[in-house]
Amino acid sequence: MSSPPFKIRPARIRDLPRITTVCLAGLPDDPTFDFLWRYAHEYPDDNYFFWLQRFKDDLYDPKKTFLVAVESADRHKDEESGEPRETIVAFAVWERNDTASHIPHLISQLVRKEFTRRDGDVKRTAAFLEVMDKVHAKYWEKKYAQNYHLELLATHPDYRRRGAGTLLSQWGIDQGLAAGIDIGVEASPMGFRLYSQLGFTLEETLMVEVEGDDAKLKVKVMVYDKSKESLKA
Ligand SMILES: CC(C)(COP(=O)(O)OP(=O)(O)OC[C@H]1O[C@@H](n2cnc3c(N)ncnc32)[C@H](O)[C@@H]1OP(=O)(O)O)[C@@H](O)C(=O)NCCC(=O)NCCS
Repeated sequence: MSSPPFKIRPARIRDLPRITTVCLAGLPDDPTFDFLWRYAHEYPDDNYFFWLQRFKDDLYDPKKTFLVAVESADRHKDEESGEPRETIVAFAVWERNDTASHIPHLISQLVRKEFTRRDGDVKRTAAFLEVMDKVHAKYWEKKYAQNYHLELLATHPDYRRRGAGTLLSQWGIDQGLAAGIDIGVEASPMGFRLYSQLGFTLEETLMVEVEGDDAKLKVKVMVYDKSKESLKA
């Protein structure tokens, strides 16, 4: 197989608008997006601002590693200056949990008085957080108490199936293996195929639902199967 046309590097503050664009082009293919940010089409500015704000928080969170996959610089040159120009095609946020915490700002962003978001569904978000709390308590705080946890991953639709998701996922797998700790994720349907191929196995599928609301969301908890490493050696 030829090497992927992308490389990965840490994200920088000036990348955040492009990362937000990649996110809003790519993440809606994860059913979680429409489930939670149900009104994003009506309030695109609220949605854009939330993600930009969240990414700024992620970038400065010492527990997190924010990575981007970029198209190799030499493939694009600026027409005027001739300088190499990168295009961010995908991003991932990995969190190293020794004591777990997760998306604590999600619900507060929806209800905070000084900035009330209009793009999200408060009941669905509350139900989602309840399930995620269970997942974190059971898996990322108990069963696999030390872990690298993949919080977010998206590839821009124009750049899919070319290895960016693999590179960004493999980074966390390598970190986890080097540190001797576990590696976990809650997978979307598209992520599930990628993570299965990389060696993650399914632990449990949980359902997020709200009374009187027909929409349901599946949360698939996956953990990297380290036993396969000894077979590779
Ligand atoms: C999941 C996602 C990040 C994968 O990104 P990507 O850059 O296309 O991933 P890769 O090119 O590294 O794919 C690697 C492998 O995963 C599997 N895979 C990825 N997307 C797939 C798809 N749509 N259908 C079937 N297999 C798929 C394939 O085995 C693929 O290898 P192949 O192309 O050689 O067959 C991307 O589809 C995406 O952004 N989806 C929407 C957001 C999302 O669901 N994020 C994950 C949240 S947990």
